[in-house]
Amino acid sequence: MPKRIIVGNWKMHKTISQAEALIRQIIELYQPDPSVELAVAPPFVALESVNRLLTTTPIKLAAQNVCGKNEGAFTGEISPPMLQELGCHYVILGHSERRHLFGETDQAINEKVHAALQQGLQPILCIGERLEERESDQTHSVIQHQLQRGLAGLEAKDLENLTLAYEPVWAIGTGKAATVDQASEVHSAIRSSVATGWKLNPEHIRILYGGSVTADNAQTLFQSPQINGALVGKACLNSESFVKIAQLAALDS
Ligand code: PGA
Repeated sequence: MPKRIIVGNWKMHKTISQAEALIRQIIELYQPDPSVELAVAPPFVALESVNRLLTTTPIKLAAQNVCGKNEGAFTGEISPPMLQELGCHYVILGHSERRHLFGETDQAINEKVHAALQQGLQPILCIGERLEERESDQTHSVIQHQLQRGLAGLEAKDLENLTLAYEPVWAIGTGKAATVDQASEVHSAIRSSVATGWKLNPEHIRILYGGSVTADNAQTLFQSPQINGALVGKACLNSESFVKIAQLAALDS
């Protein structure tokens, strides 16, 4: 089984000084485990100061978004080389808030995936259906569509540097996480589709679950071998619950 990965998506929370305080608490509480990788995705403006505090720890730095172009007249955008120089290891792409609140298309997300990989940043590509899509039995077709478009043009070796995150939109920030059976079923479909499409060993494909993961439900979710970790929103803003989730992800926990 690949290492479990737990990523904290801080979204638009924490100023620089608040971010420093949170990461100090996380570092103090966290006992690294060889079977788990921990990463934090603070807002862009806090990346540098958080990274400075991470240098003596195994915790990795992630960004929440990136531009699909390396430089140019793109006011307000942040490029892959900028993130790379800041010390980012991962970049979250295609988050449902980017798709639905900011109108990011699968095509734009695919461009970002390529640009990130070219710069040595590992994308965490988020996919997931909305409630009305699940209720009208479209979950699998929506997921397949997002996968095919989001991963278009990638080679098998690129997939080794990419992590997928299944985040049902109806579970994000609602307190209503998917059940372990619901998540496992979709993870299994994603895994076999990517393994077949790119001729990969299914066990090498990393798929995180995201959507209302808490220290209370993480253990049940991690019982599924389909779930290779979690993308955590609200619960990652509390150092104790975030570290608890990481502890529960340890393969012998
Ligand atoms: P949540 O967010 O844990 O608050 O549901 C998850 C996410 O948006 O990645």
